[in-house]
Amino acid sequence: MDNKEINQGRRRFLSVATAGAGAVAAAGVATPLVASWFPSERAKAAGVSIEVDVSKIESGQLTVVEWRGKPIFVLNRTEQQVKDLSSLDGQMVDPSSELEQQPEYCKNPIRSIKPNVWVGIGICTHLGCSPAYRPDVGAADLGGSSWKGGFFCPCHGSKFDLAGRVYKGVPAPSNLVIPPYKYLNDNVILVGED
Ligand code: FES
Repeated sequence: MDNKEINQGRRRFLSVATAGAGAVAAAGVATPLVASWFPSERAKAAGVSIEVDVSKIESGQLTVVEWRGKPIFVLNRTEQQVKDLSSLDGQMVDPSSELEQQPEYCKNPIRSIKPNVWVGIGICTHLGCSPAYRPDVGAADLGGSSWKGGFFCPCHGSKFDLAGRVYKGVPAPSNLVIPPYKYLNDNVILVGED
């Protein structure tokens, strides 16, 4: 395979679909996220690190890419979403990320390198379903006024906030896992290496 083909394959892999907040809220299921993965055969086989241009993700939107066969959530949180996180600490199982569910550089109150961009493995820590993105603040089926947006696992009802922290009283025992990642420049992250 020459470089041109590799680059074309890489572009296809990276041309991820985004899930608009409204669209996902309306659908309310995990399936649309899963349908947005476009891994190349080459990337799947190699389990290579993948680049994501976070500047293309609008504020409040979630993009899903695949890394090592797993869905990777890349969320561009709004300022308000980031601000709301601390108000949820008392409802969380592991608010300070004491468990080893993230690299050291994401062991902070917002579980990310930069405040707005959150990266996490989209696999529920209960039995492995993929949670749905539910940014709809105040959703009646998710606790009403106390719901500040987050992820909801449709399999057995686990709830996570927009830092992937698990709520108390749900089947999932721990926060969503954060994969290794780093910034290659202001706009591009590399998932799979730190
Ligand atoms: S797999 Fe998510 S709650 Fe059971």
